Amino acid sequence: MRLICALMLSLLLAACATSREPRLYDALGGDAGIEKLVDALVAEYHADAKIGFLFAETDDAYFKARLREQLCAISDGGCDYTGLDMVEAHSGMDLSEAQFNDFVDASRRAMTRAGFAIGVQNRLLARLAPMRGDVIHQ
Ligand code: HEM
Repeated sequence: MRLICALMLSLLLAACATSREPRLYDALGGDAGIEKLVDALVAEYHADAKIGFLFAETDDAYFKARLREQLCAISDGGCDYTGLDMVEAHSGMDLSEAQFNDFVDASRRAMTRAGFAIGVQNRLLARLAPMRGDVIHQ
């Protein structure tokens, strides 16, 4: 009986802890926070010594608008993403795993520079990670 009570208590505590965590969209600072984040990300991608060349021809206004929608959508902000799907968007680039890692490193630097806490960074990266297979080797 004691074991069952202890188990139920820990389940209850875990449920409370989860429900206290703000929606990722809110943790990112809503639309204004995501706009700041996307500006920082795109600046960092352009400046990156290893992957910067890939963005040389990028229409930044279009790219930033799609990234804002996508980050809002995946952080449960309720936006519709209107861009290309991830396979299409990266097809013909044949991105490697190393380039994907460089992209993640650049994203972390941008988030740190823009003042996002490590916990929020990790939550966002955890939602991007499952897209890896659609992005590399296309
Ligand atoms: C989960 C990771 C990634 C996400 C969520 C993502 C997201 C996006 C989005 C939303 C677009 C625009 C789609 C459109 O044209 O409608 C895009 C394009 C692009 N992405 Fe990614 N991307 C990821 C990984 C990467 C990586 C690893 C690289 C390179 C190292 C990369 C390089 C590019 C480039 C060069 C474009 C085309 C920009 C242009 O139009 O010139 N992406 N990506």
